[in-house]
Amino acid sequence: MSKTLRLIHRWLAPVFIIVMIAVISTQGSDVGLILQRIQQGMVLIFALTGLYLFAYPLWVKSRRAKQRGAAPRQARSN
Ligand code: HEM
Repeated sequence: MSKTLRLIHRWLAPVFIIVMIAVISTQGSDVGLILQRIQQGMVLIFALTGLYLFAYPLWVKSRRAKQRGAAPRQARSN
């Protein structure tokens, strides 16, 4: 899941830049408006996948820390 979302986020980046250039060069036309809507959708996908990429490692980290806290402590040898 995490891998797929990262791949989507990664490969959407160059497409986003191409769409951005197209939006700038078609400003004011009907095509420009359609491209803008497409770009808005892409921003939403970026935001959602980016949020996941940001939050997931933090969530895993905190879960591991909790598990470690719950595990019985090992006796020290010295
Ligand atoms: C709301 C918007 C966005 C958010 C919240 C977001 C967030 C993130 C996060 C958290 C990561 C992972 C960083 C890491 O692994 O330490 C990431 C990676 C990345 N982001 Fe975004 N991002 C956003 C928009 C964009 C946009 C607009 C682009 C480019 C057009 C972009 C391109 C990339 C690329 C290329 C990576 C590396 C992915 C990989 O190969 O692993 N992001 N982003």
